[in-house]
Amino acid sequence: MTETNGRPDAALSGAFAIGDDDLRVNRLGFGAMRITGGGIWGEPEDPEEARAVLQHAMEVGINLIDTADSYGPEVSERLIGETLHPYPDDLVIATKGGLVRGGPGQWSPNGHPDHLRRACEGSLRRLKVERIDLYQLHRIDPEVPAEESLGVLAELRDEGKIRHIGLSEVSVEQIEHAREIVPIITVQNRYNLTDRGSEEVLDFCEREGIGFIPWFPLATGRLARPGSILDEISGRKNARPSQVALAWLLARSPVMLPIPGTSSVAHLEENTAAAGIMLSDEELAELNEAA
Ligand SMILES: NC(=O)c1ccc[n+]([C@@H]2O[C@H](COP(=O)([O-])OP(=O)(O)OC[C@H]3O[C@@H](n4cnc5c(N)ncnc54)[C@H](OP(=O)(O)O)[C@@H]3O)[C@@H](O)[C@H]2O)c1
Repeated sequence: MTETNGRPDAALSGAFAIGDDDLRVNRLGFGAMRITGGGIWGEPEDPEEARAVLQHAMEVGINLIDTADSYGPEVSERLIGETLHPYPDDLVIATKGGLVRGGPGQWSPNGHPDHLRRACEGSLRRLKVERIDLYQLHRIDPEVPAEESLGVLAELRDEGKIRHIGLSEVSVEQIEHAREIVPIITVQNRYNLTDRGSEEVLDFCEREGIGFIPWFPLATGRLARPGSILDEISGRKNARPSQVALAWLLARSPVMLPIPGTSSVAHLEENTAAAGIMLSDEELAELNEAA
């Protein structure tokens, strides 16, 4: 079953509590990086479609949206605020700060406390909320001690502007160090069927009950070539390789919270339908072996 009443349903991915039991989300979320212009810069090519994607995400049961102040910059958060506010009660918006933009495709870390405080306050305004449910440090800035960057996030939490704190692109050592400064609720690293560089971080998160948000979740690379095991399993399930890649992620760990991103309603539907694709133990083993 991939759908409920003929419509894809993110609830079929199962639930995960982000920090608190009252922040329970369906594990399959939505990444809002692609509702901006090319190179994640400026306005989207089709703003109406971008808004429709956000609205439709609510209709298919998505209640976890990932964004960042740097997507656009500001564009993704602004569109979310304009389109979805006032928000459904169960919606969790996770944003990030700590990367700044020089132009299309250009990103650099800025973990200075002053910058992070200003960034968080800008996100609060654009998202039209008094408190951000999950604020993720987009990168640990090698120029700034983690104590300072995470220290200001802890202050913002004490001031009630942030509810929970997450990290992005980190090692187990960095998570352990960060946890000496402030509780860490989620980790967002690049991870997909073909890129398993963060396996050790994922296992750590699973042991510790930390939500693991894999970015670039749809990548299948050469594994999707005709005749491959991924191609064969996809054919058997009447699904696309990218859907099987998402189903594999969901099966890989109960703390896995994939956030596939798209600028198209049709792709959103297709990605959400992956929540209902069940892979057998044998299929999971075959995919693991191939990857
Ligand atoms: N923490 C970090 O450093 C970091 C870095 C990158 C991303 N992220 C987050 O992770 C999210 C996902 O990452 P991502 O966008 O890089 O990777 P992704 O979700 O794996 O892939 C998105 C790409 O795939 C295309 N796509 C989506 N659904 C499709 C479908 N059903 N069929 C064909 N093509 C499809 C999209 O184009 P269309 O728009 O044409 O569908 C887009 O080019 C982002 O939105 C962002 O929230 C975080």
